[in-house]
Amino acid sequence: MATRNAAILDKTIILTGGGGDIGSATVQLLLAQGGRVAVLDRSPDALDRLAAAAGGSDRLFTAPCDVTSEAEISACFAKARAALGPIHGVVNAAGIEGRRAPIDQCATEMFDAVMAVNVKGVFLGIKHGIPLLRESGGGAIVNACSTAGLKGVEGMAPYVASKHAVLGLTRSSGLEWGRHGIRINCVAPGPVEGRMLQSIYAERAADPSWPSLESRRALNPSGRFGEPAEIANVIAFLLSDASSFVNGALFSVDGGVCAL
Ligand SMILES: NC(=O)c1ccc[n+]([C@@H]2O[C@H](COP(=O)([O-])OP(=O)(O)OC[C@H]3O[C@@H](n4cnc5c(N)ncnc54)[C@H](O)[C@@H]3O)[C@@H](O)[C@H]2O)c1
Repeated sequence: MATRNAAILDKTIILTGGGGDIGSATVQLLLAQGGRVAVLDRSPDALDRLAAAAGGSDRLFTAPCDVTSEAEISACFAKARAALGPIHGVVNAAGIEGRRAPIDQCATEMFDAVMAVNVKGVFLGIKHGIPLLRESGGGAIVNACSTAGLKGVEGMAPYVASKHAVLGLTRSSGLEWGRHGIRINCVAPGPVEGRMLQSIYAERAADPSWPSLESRRALNPSGRFGEPAEIANVIAFLLSDASSFVNGALFSVDGGVCAL
């Protein structure tokens, strides 16, 4: 079989949560590889920053979108198709961490909010992405899972449960759509430097029983946390033709955490 191209080149990708650390690193990489990217995020400020960084490129489309709303996802995916043409890939990267608390003290509203963004948002991204990818003759979907999709984390049960669900959505939908030329995989980052990690460890600071950010960094088998660009590289690989026989899979990008 011929060698497949690891670059995105002329592909068009819809990316939710593209205003975040991992999302924006992915947007920059996809644009640098010649792709067209439709970024959907609930933060208009983050979308403005992305558009400014892209210098008005006509290969970038942005739209405010709440991934928990099926009406908004449906309308924004249609707008992305109209603006950039046929769609070859979808990245479901929007996510929230919730608040840290033991389960008996978790606000049920917080549980609902985490599930709505991290699970329903990914479900909707797959559901509304499939028809667009079928129209293009196939494509790839990449979901943002986490090492928390494979392991428990004390004090983060809603987030952990949501990421286990992302793995289930990925595996089940991958089985459904492989025969139609649509591959559905997930990336499972370990701790990545950025806003989400700072937020989680800011809450830990109030509880001395939790390790510090610095000690956690040192405990990682690679002696550090990841950078958003390192996650973006694997997302781009899973979108590209170089991963043509990868389906229903989870790719850990964690410096070795899951090998512990
Ligand atoms: N940062 C990490 O250490 C880490 C580790 C493992 C997994 N992840 C996962 O990777 C993904 C990206 O994480 P990140 O570090 O870039 O986080 P981030 O907080 O920097 O970015 C998340 C983005 O999602 C957007 N978003 C949140 N709720 C939304 C909604 N309802 N509708 C639309 N957009 C919404 C935010 O505006 C933000 O731009 C998340 O799913 C996260 O759970 C992150």
